[in-house]
Amino acid sequence: MSGNIPEELISQIKERINIIDVVSDFLPLKKVGVNYKGLCPFHSEKTPSFTVNEEKQIFHCFGCGAGGNAITFLMKAGGMTFPDAVTELAKKAGVSIPKDDWNISSAKNDKRSGLFEVNEAAASFYHRALKDSDKGRGYLEKRGLTEDIVNDYKLGYGGDGWDSLYVFLSKKKASLTMAEELGLIIPKKSGGYYDRFRGRIIFPIFDIHGQVIGFGGRSIDGSEPKYLNSSESALFKKSDSLYGLTVAKKWIKEADEALIVEGYMDLLSLHQAGIKNSVATLGTALTAGHLRLIKRLTENIVTVFDADKAGVKATLRALDLFLTEGVRARVLSMPEGHDPDTFVRETGADRFRKEIKSARPLMEFFINEALKGKNAEEIQGKLKVVDEVLPYIERLPSKIEQGHYLKIVSERIGVNEELLFKEMRKRGGSAPKKFDVKLQKGVNPAVTLTAEKKVIQMAIRYPELMEKVIDSGVLSDFQDERLRLFGEGLFAAPAGVDLVEYFEDEEDRGVYLKLVMEMLETDEPEKELDDCIKSLRLHKLRKDKERLRKEMEEAAKKGDEDLLMELRGRHRQLK
Ligand code: CTP
Ligand code: MN
Repeated sequence: MSGNIPEELISQIKERINIIDVVSDFLPLKKVGVNYKGLCPFHSEKTPSFTVNEEKQIFHCFGCGAGGNAITFLMKAGGMTFPDAVTELAKKAGVSIPKDDWNISSAKNDKRSGLFEVNEAAASFYHRALKDSDKGRGYLEKRGLTEDIVNDYKLGYGGDGWDSLYVFLSKKKASLTMAEELGLIIPKKSGGYYDRFRGRIIFPIFDIHGQVIGFGGRSIDGSEPKYLNSSESALFKKSDSLYGLTVAKKWIKEADEALIVEGYMDLLSLHQAGIKNSVATLGTALTAGHLRLIKRLTENIVTVFDADKAGVKATLRALDLFLTEGVRARVLSMPEGHDPDTFVRETGADRFRKEIKSARPLMEFFINEALKGKNAEEIQGKLKVVDEVLPYIERLPSKIEQGHYLKIVSERIGVNEELLFKEMRKRGGSAPKKFDVKLQKGVNPAVTLTAEKKVIQMAIRYPELMEKVIDSGVLSDFQDERLRLFGEGLFAAPAGVDLVEYFEDEEDRGVYLKLVMEMLETDEPEKELDDCIKSLRLHKLRKDKERLRKEMEEAAKKGDEDLLMELRGRHRQLK
């Protein structure tokens, strides 16, 4: 991460500056409790969820999940490269960076353009190979793509051999290390390399400037996986990339509306049909990174998802994101058995445009989904609907919108609007926040979650207690999957490492920052840790006993005496 700037120098700089000063150059901060708060510069919000912790020298936004240290803040807020941010901070800290290290910026840029060059060469190779492949061209023809589209989007073919790209790159004297880093070729144990994409249709993925950041490859002979993407690299981050953006950006601006679809083929068919204000995620959930790209072009978003369960789920997950980001989106569900590709092909562009025009707001879609499978005539059904929808309606940015949807709910379940409003107010603050929903995924009583979080927090705050936590073995029984995985990463961290930088995975870093922000000081850390461990053990014991008891009941019902004996023995041993 640090390029050529010596680690000691970076630590020295970090020690001398205060993140509060750095952030304050960009936005006003106010002290609230132990932390400082302000309006997040990385997403639009009306109440501050951007939090800076002076002791830990980190920031975290509870709204959009952005987070890091002073260096990453400068990079993000000031649009700087790592060396530029360090240089800027060095000035602030009065630390001088030796001359040798000043040209790192350009060294890093050289590396990037080198990577782009390799991708570019690969794209040209694949494109050429498609022209030469009857199989490849035949497949695309069968899928109805015109030659123009194939050329405009520089579609390609991965070659039938094991190493056609490798041979091509070697001949060209391209950097094989870079090709490997980009995930285009894979080293063989016996030496040499083989190609990652073989016998697949290739979709080059361009960034907003039209540079190739990565590739998607679709198998044409039914082999799995159906789609294979470039590995993540300095150029390619799947969850922040949008396919088709280079072309679409102009049309999105012009139409002042962006359509979001899920797949490469969906995108190409729409563009071919002339509906060019569309982009595609690469099969991942919609992220804040995607939205940031789109928000520069328009505020009006329509998500177009498949009718299947996965599509509905993706849509509802998107609602959470849109609320957090303060974006109003509409949703278009494809009819049963269709995706945008097949639908636009079957019905034509005019019909598709009409459907887009009449797409309903996402919140309305959500309310309809919540009503499905529930009997709104009965009080139980009413309560369930209310439980589901109120926390979301509460997160709408204006009272007018809240009122609008409360009215809809009121009509659908026959409960007075005013009552709904009061209920929402009463519950206020208990609305599930994004992060908590994630942590509570699966059955997870709040008590255990609190204890699990605390155990991890203790291990972070008091490194001398880390050993104890590891030895207790409680981690492997954590109910919360996300937290368990995070804990495993934490335990594996080298002593003394800066954890903000250690957790490269954004989700892990988010968990880390959130835990640190919520950390409370304590006078008796060891005792509190012991209590948590005890409580978790007790909880597990209760669960184990409960499970055994059920098994014994079953065995008794079946009259299986042997099993019953064994279970009784095990039950006795639990203490
Ligand atoms: N995807 C992926 N890996 C997979 C399956 C899907 O990365 N194993 C991504 C691809 O970006 C794909 C998108 O998810 O375009 C949507 O997947 P799916 O609906 O299964 O495929 P389609 O786009 O409909 O592709 P096709 O029409 O070629 O079957
Ligand atoms: Mn499809």
